[in-house]
Amino acid sequence: MITLTKDMELGVPKIDEQHRELIDRLNTVISMGAKSVSKEETEKTLDLLCDYILKHFSDEEALQKQSGYPKYDWHKSQHQIYVNEIGKLKQEFYANGTSAKFTLDLNNSIVNWIVRHIKAADVEFGKYYRAL
Ligand SMILES: [Fe+2]
Repeated sequence: MITLTKDMELGVPKIDEQHRELIDRLNTVISMGAKSVSKEETEKTLDLLCDYILKHFSDEEALQKQSGYPKYDWHKSQHQIYVNEIGKLKQEFYANGTSAKFTLDLNNSIVNWIVRHIKAADVEFGKYYRAL
């Protein structure tokens, strides 16, 4: 389970709220591995997570663009990498269900990545945004 720790807060309320929601949805996916949830339910939960990630990234990018953030292009490209990883996770799920590989990819490519991204790249943007 992930929690939004102090060092993951940007001080930008809209984005912090979205990060909280994103982490809630990720935790739901993580907890499904331990329970015996139907394939349909897992699929629905994964779709909800993906939809939310796309919405969140697009809102965050819009805020960066509006505020003339100098690292906008780089940050957007990082988001794109993540969207590709989520796509791969979905493929893995469709092929093999919540397999050991699914759990491993979920932890390494999805959970750890987003925590690192928020703590470094997003927090850096938060500092820029608050200083405007
Ligand atoms: Fe971001």
